[in-house]
Amino acid sequence: MRRSLLGAVVVSAALSLLAPAVVGQSSPKFFFLQFCVGCHQYDGTGLPPDVPSLRDDLSYLIGSPEGRDFMLRVPGVIGAPGSAEQVAELLNWIVESFYQGDADFTPFTAAEVLSGRERPMRDPIKERLELLAGY
Ligand code: HEC
Repeated sequence: MRRSLLGAVVVSAALSLLAPAVVGQSSPKFFFLQFCVGCHQYDGTGLPPDVPSLRDDLSYLIGSPEGRDFMLRVPGVIGAPGSAEQVAELLNWIVESFYQGDADFTPFTAAEVLSGRERPMRDPIKERLELLAGY
């Protein structure tokens, strides 16, 4: 796990140098390439079981208030630089671009992102397991 995540971070750093030339610097795709792709991969498949898939694993999250709240409070989202509007746009882009399921999705708002930023998770792995145990 450690080695794959380290590799992922190196890839992510390399991509952050290349990305500006490829996509608009403030687009959600640019943010994803710069700050998320190292772990979540280009197509959102992640590095299971360590990094969850953003393609398959989102149904139970976007479909419930607790799940949406979890998405806003994972370290990657809390630590994402940029305005709350940009992070909301990024999350909505992720769902639109990767999510393959059919759960109803109400787009995230900047207010929700701000609320999440006030409540970072201490132990995301534990919280994720507890959340999933309810499904
Ligand atoms: C260092 C690796 C890493 C980076 C970089 C990263 N994530 Fe994650 N992400 C994870 C892991 C691991 C989880 C599972 C929850 C946890 O343990 O934090 C996760 C969970 C998530 C989830 C919830 C999905 C689920 O099924 O749990 C979302 C949404 C998410 N990340 C979005 C992002 C976004 C957006 C970025 C970039 C701004 C990002 N992540 C950057 C590793 C990463």
